[in-house]
Amino acid sequence: MKIVHTLADLRLALAASQHPAFVPTMGNLHAGHLDLVTRAKTLGDCTVVSIFVNRMQFAPHEDFDSYPRTLKADAEQLRAQGCDLVFAPSERELYPQPQTFKVLPDPALADILEGHFRPGFFTGVCTVVMKLFQAVFAGKAQGTAVFGQKDRQQLMVVRRMVEQFALPTCIVTGPTQRAADGLALSSRNVYLSAAERAEAVQLSLALKALGQAVRASGTPDLPALEQQAMQALSARGWKPDYLTVRRQSDLLLPTPAELATSALTALGAARLGSTRLIDNLDI
Ligand code: PAF
Repeated sequence: MKIVHTLADLRLALAASQHPAFVPTMGNLHAGHLDLVTRAKTLGDCTVVSIFVNRMQFAPHEDFDSYPRTLKADAEQLRAQGCDLVFAPSERELYPQPQTFKVLPDPALADILEGHFRPGFFTGVCTVVMKLFQAVFAGKAQGTAVFGQKDRQQLMVVRRMVEQFALPTCIVTGPTQRAADGLALSSRNVYLSAAERAEAVQLSLALKALGQAVRASGTPDLPALEQQAMQALSARGWKPDYLTVRRQSDLLLPTPAELATSALTALGAARLGSTRLIDNLDI
């Protein structure tokens, strides 16, 4: 496995590849990322993982500075997983100038849920993903990128960006990987104290209960059920941003008729202590 830090070295290392399979990450890898790498290995002729903590997708008050940077341990895990190439650029390499050109995603998808609570987040994600896709896929016959289902809205935003810019990139998804108790694996789980770690599974349990309540009722009062779910988490000491049920197709609110007939997903984001966790479950 090769580790490169510059765009020039990345292109050199990829010179013989016609179909790279790419997993973009911010590092501090866990079994969820490694599962995406395993998937990527079957999808191309060179498996590439990027490790880059993208300042542009963090608000000034968020955890950019404290985000765990664990390149050595990440590289060891990736080598053991059979990754071919790691791209770990510096900020100066990826953003040599202030990034005044940005990819502005469709607000109908990007300004709701995560985008509502983290304004500008998806602009940061789309801009860096576009740059990374250019770096990895430019000049290739075809490219495949693998994204996790845990960041459900991110996956949909990236898919829509690929469609609307007609990028010759195939987006593949891997299911959310969970700890034995059901907590969705996340790089941010390392922030949790032992007591918070024991509590953290309650987010996915709340989403499951919300989904069951919606499906159990013939004519669910969705706002009331969402409110109850948020109150139940708040009573346990969480600070929920949202717990909601949305259409799988576009993450918009289902109509009353669609509540009974459409493919739906329950999504949530909530803060436990100083750690913000997100999760989603199809219901
Ligand atoms: O999901 C992530 O880790 C990041 O948002 C991504 C896609 C690597 C862009 O920085």
